[in-house]
Formats: sequence, structure tokens, C-alpha cells
Amino acid sequence: MKKILIVFGTRPEAIKMCPLVLELKRRKKFDVRVCVTGQHREMLDTVLKVFDVVPDYDLNIMQEKQTLFDITIRILDRFSSVLENYRPNMVLVHGDTTTSFASALCAFYKQIPVAHVEAGLRTHNLREPFPEEFNRQAVSIITKYHFAPTEHAKNNLLMEGKSENSIFVTGNTVIDAMKITVSNKYFHEELKWADGSKLVLMTAHRRENIGKPMENIFRAMKTVIERHADVKIIYPVHMNPSIRYLADNILGDHERIHLIEPLDVVDFHNFISRSYLIVTDSGGIQEEASTFGKPVLVLRNTTERPEGIEAGTLKLVGTDYENVLMNVEQLLSDYNLYSAMSTAKSPYGDGCAAEYISNILEGELCNE
Ligand code: UD1
Ligand code: UDP
Repeated sequence: MKKILIVFGTRPEAIKMCPLVLELKRRKKFDVRVCVTGQHREMLDTVLKVFDVVPDYDLNIMQEKQTLFDITIRILDRFSSVLENYRPNMVLVHGDTTTSFASALCAFYKQIPVAHVEAGLRTHNLREPFPEEFNRQAVSIITKYHFAPTEHAKNNLLMEGKSENSIFVTGNTVIDAMKITVSNKYFHEELKWADGSKLVLMTAHRRENIGKPMENIFRAMKTVIERHADVKIIYPVHMNPSIRYLADNILGDHERIHLIEPLDVVDFHNFISRSYLIVTDSGGIQEEASTFGKPVLVLRNTTERPEGIEAGTLKLVGTDYENVLMNVEQLLSDYNLYSAMSTAKSPYGDGCAAEYISNILEGELCNE
């Protein structure tokens, strides 16, 4: 039986890879093993618990305030031993994290084919998002099978000279995940607290935003809350200590702002579905919110997800204080603008991406 090793390490990778792990294991056509790098610890473990996925290997690399060097070196060192030990026929990586890049590089050094889930997203600017744009491009060079979520992503890969028969458009596995997590009957105390107000759900974690840009964002949101008595903000704060320090300092002391621990994915998806508006620099949340028709103000200058902008649910607002403030206030007061942004349709597929990817892997690998 052919052996597939699925590797991931952060919260978003886990959310998007677990549906594929479950589907591949259900079929019993391959020997499937899961390796987590543990680039994230608590934020990864809560996702594994939700999907009931137990890793076969855990590299456990996370350190407080880890640098890109720390992450890369530790993965290169520890993942190569897993490859030597298990000797898979294929390694599956996801997206654009340093886990994805370093594990794909290990596989390349060992001459093991790589398949890339969520392939082909590009900003074409190596500094934004940093270092993710580099990671994604670098993984594409190594990849044998590219699983692109949209036609747009496929075209990016074609323009880079990847052969058409190595690219498969599958939709995004995050839609598969949302089929499992979202429920009409969902209840949470925080949502009860926000009932009757315009709930702004916010997140921020990008490396390039830490420092002045994030300070600008937080100050803008503080002004929003001071000017609009009908608004409440829920902000599940990323566990990065530098972000926590800034968030506590600027947003920590207002009765209509709740800074809370990261939510598990079931909670977060259901919070999105009950929000009025999302303010975020996240990648994955741009996809999820458009599925619910929730307007998203993206706290970045570029996005590798232009489909959401074309569909009308996303708007890039950068990190300038005035610009963030103006855009949030517009969405709070301009009903026509709000309804135009909230009626767009999701471009990310039908929620069967894991099934399509598994079909392709069966077709390609079982006939080798
Ligand atoms: C990483 C990814 C980013 C992705 C994000 C998802 C890279 C370079 N960055 O960024 O692409 O968007 O994950 O959230 O791959 N921490 C904890 N517990 C956790 C997770 C993080 O304490 O469960 C703290 C640690 O102090 C850690 C810090 O957060 O050192 C930063 O984590 P890291 O994975 O380096 O960066 P992210 O900003 O999370
Ligand atoms: N998410 C979560 N709990 C939170 C915030 C986000 O489960 O408190 C989920 C969210 O639903 C999305 C993913 O985490 O699927 C996005 O991760 P993040 O923003 O950390 O990373 P990115 O997508 O930018 O790489």
C-alpha cells in the first residue's frame, strides 16, 4: 500500500488539512500518517481535538517568540528523521507557513514527491505577507501535484510555467471544514453579550503588522468604539506575546470591547456567522467570511485572495489609522454599501475539496 504523510503545524493549516486527513483515512486506499510540527501548540491542539485527529508524529518545535530561523532549523532537523523512518511515497503540505516551506524542502532533499494543498495563491510581493509569499512560491517549485482552490490560483501557476496536467482546481478545504463546524443551534455567552449590537469580530497577527501598523489598527478600533454606542467588539487575541501586550495596552480597558482567548474553530466559525462585520489581517478568515456574506475589511495592502475582492465581500484598507477608521465607519453608517458587500457569493467551492483531492491522489498514485 502506498504511503502518504500529511504534515502541518499551525492553526489554519490544521483547520484546512483535517478534513483531508479524515477523508483519506476513511477510504483506506493508502497508509496515511499525520505529522504535526507543533509550530503552534495550544492553537493547533484545539483544532486536532475538534476534528478528532491524533498525529502519528509530533515534532513539538514551538518556542515563545520563535524566530523564522528557529522554526526552519528545528523542522529541517526533526522532520528529516520522520522521513527517514517512515519513507512515504508522497508528502502533503498546505499553504504558506514556514512549516509548509521547511517540510517541503526536507521532502525535496530526500527526493520524495510533494503535493501542495491550497496552491497558487500570490500577491507577487515577497514582503507581503512576509514570509508567506516566499514560502508559497518556494513550495510551488518543489511540488508535483498542485491543488489550487480556484481558477485564479491555477492561472497564477500556469503563468509561472507549471504544466497544466500537474494542476487541479478543487475548491478550498476550509469550506469542507465549515460543513462540520457551523450550526444554527450554536450558543455562546459572548454572543449573548453582543446580542442587539453591531458585532465587529476582529483578529490581527501578521508579522509585518506587529509594531506601528498594529498600533494604528488598535487605535482606530478604539476610536470606533468611542464614537458608536451601538457597536461591540470581540477580539480573540493571538497567543503571540508581542501582540497581547499591544492589544491589552490599547484596547484592554473598554466595556464594549472583549479581548478573549483564541476561540476554537467551531466557536470562531459560528462567531463569524453572527457578526455584523469582520476586521482582520488573516488569510483564511477572508475565505470564511465571504462564505457567510460577511463584509471583511482586510488590514493589509495586498491580498493573495483577490477572488473575494472581485466578488465584493473584501476590501483592502491597509493599516493607516485614518483609513481603517473611515472604512469601518462607512460600513456602520452606509446601508447600501453594507448590503452590497454582504450579498456577494463565495468563490471557494462546494465543500467537497477533500473528496476531489483524494480522488486525484487515488488516480495518480495507485496507477503509478
Ligand atoms: C504563523 C504563520 C502564519 C500564519 C499564522 C496563523 C509562519 C512564518 N507564520 O504565524 O503564516 O498566518 O501562523 O496563525 O509560518 N504562540 C503560542 N501558542 C500557540 C501559537 C503561537 O504561544 O499555539 C505564540 C508563541 O510565542 C510563538 C508566537 O506565538 O512564538 C508566534 O507563533 P509563530 O507560529 O511563529 O507565528 P504566527 O504569527 O502564529
Ligand atoms: N480562528 C480560530 N480561532 C480564532 C481565530 C481564528 O479558530 O480565535 C481560525 C479561523 O476560523 C481561520 C483560521 O483560524 O480558519 C485563520 O487562522 P489565522 O488567522 O491565524 O491564520 P491565516 O489564515 O492568516 O494564515
